[in-house]
Amino acid sequence: MTVEDARIIDLPKFLDARGNLSFVENFKQIPFEIKRTYWIYDVPGGESRGGHAYRDNEEFIIALSGAFDVVVDDGKQKKTFTLNRSYYGLYVPKGLWREMENFSTNAFALEFGSSPYDEKDYVRDYPQFLKLKADEKI
Ligand code: TYD
Repeated sequence: MTVEDARIIDLPKFLDARGNLSFVENFKQIPFEIKRTYWIYDVPGGESRGGHAYRDNEEFIIALSGAFDVVVDDGKQKKTFTLNRSYYGLYVPKGLWREMENFSTNAFALEFGSSPYDEKDYVRDYPQFLKLKADEKI
């Protein structure tokens, strides 16, 4: 996987005077089956988190409110995606280093994963990530 495999996916948007509505479904807007949902909130403004790669987990990240950047890195190239609307999200395939940066004070990040939480799926050490990538093991 390379940073070119990470992509913004636009979501359906029902604009309505009563309030807008968007949604996601497995294998439709989200290109995998959701096995896990988690969210990140109350992040101090300007904070960063999520510096790691997954060996197998794919994810889809939406900024439900506020804004933050997701930086994806394949060991050769980095690409930064700014998420700041609830009607699109970022698909991050497995095997990429990713960090979430520049959280606004009111940011609410919703994340869907293709696998249940498993600490063994994480690579949290950047030099180890680079080695795994160079050896084509991730
Ligand atoms: P972590 O993945 O380290 O957060 P970040 O991606 O921002 O670095 O998760 C923080 C803690 O939450 C960690 O101890 C594991 C726990 N956790 C779960 O138990 N289940 C989950 O689905 C996630 C994402 C984290």
